[in-house]
Amino acid sequence: MNSFRSVFTKSSRKFSTASILRSSYTHVPRKTIEDIHQLYKSGEPISVVTSHDFLTSQILERAKVDINLIGDSLANTTLGYEDTNQLSLDEMLYHVKSVQRGNSHSLLVADMPFGSFECSIEQATQTAIKLVQQGKVQAVKIEGGDKDILPTIKKIISVGIPVMGHVGLTPQKHNALGGYKLQGRNVDEAVRILQECLNLQEAGVFAIVLECIPNKLAQAITEKLSIPTIGIGAGPYTSGQVLVISDVLGMKDDHVPKFVQQYANFFNLGVEGIQQYQADVKSRSFPNADTHGFKIKKEVFEQFKEKTKDI
Ligand code: KIV
Repeated sequence: MNSFRSVFTKSSRKFSTASILRSSYTHVPRKTIEDIHQLYKSGEPISVVTSHDFLTSQILERAKVDINLIGDSLANTTLGYEDTNQLSLDEMLYHVKSVQRGNSHSLLVADMPFGSFECSIEQATQTAIKLVQQGKVQAVKIEGGDKDILPTIKKIISVGIPVMGHVGLTPQKHNALGGYKLQGRNVDEAVRILQECLNLQEAGVFAIVLECIPNKLAQAITEKLSIPTIGIGAGPYTSGQVLVISDVLGMKDDHVPKFVQQYANFFNLGVEGIQQYQADVKSRSFPNADTHGFKIKKEVFEQFKEKTKDI
C-alpha cells in the first residue's frame, strides 16, 4: 500500500507543477503528418492510443505516443453511453479541448462524431474546421470508405485538414452492420474493404484504421497501399497499432475484447486505493496530524481560546 501511495503522491505532485512539466517538453516538437510518413517509410510501427481527457492525454504525452487519437469511443468508455452514436459534436469538442491541453508532443487526431458530417459536404467541412480551430487538432478521422463519402473527404483535405480513414468494423454503423462483428469474412466483404481502402487512398487520406478484420486481409491491404494502415483487431501485419486507453490500462471493470492486451489494471488499483483510504478514514489513521496537517502558532491559539471562551 505504501508503494501505491508513493505512486499517487509523486504523480499528483508532478501534475500540480504544470509549468515544470510544460517547460520540460517545450523542446520536443509536436509530431507531424510528415513524421508519421517517415515512420511508415522506415518500417517502424506507428503507435496510436486514444485519450479522452487531460489526465489520459498526459499519460500519452509522457509515454511519447506517436498519435493521440481522440476517438469517439470516449462515448462508451468515459461517458457511459450505450454507443458512439449518442455523442454530440459539442461533447466531442469539450473532450478534444481537454486532451489538447494535456499533450504537446503527439499528432492529435479527432474523430468526426456520428451526425456531424453525413448530411452534406458543407456540414462535414464545418465540423472539421471546428475541430481544428477550437480543438486545435492536426487531423480528423472519418468512418467509412464507400463512394458517397469520398467527395466529403476530398473537400476537407482541400481546405488543408489531413484526414485519417477508418474501415472494417465502423462502430458508428453498428446498427446497419448487425452489431460489433468481425468484418471481411467472405470474399465479397473482403474485396469491398480493400476497394474502400483504395478509394480512401485515392481521395488523399494520410492513414487508414483497419478495425476488426482477419490478419491476412489486413496484411494484403497493407501490402497493396502506399499509405500506413493502423490496425485494431487486425493482427500484427499493419503499419501501426491503435488501442483504446481504457482497454490498454484496464480502467473499466468490463469484458476485455480478444484483440486487446491489457498492460495495467487501473480499475483494481483504484478500488484498492480507495478501499484503503476509506479504511484509514474510518480508523482515523488518515489524516496524520504531523504529515498532512497545518500548525497554528501557540500564542495565536492561546489568544483565540481567550477571545472565544464565552462563545
Ligand atoms: O473511437 C475510437 O476509439 C476509434 C479507435 C477504436 C480506432 O475509432
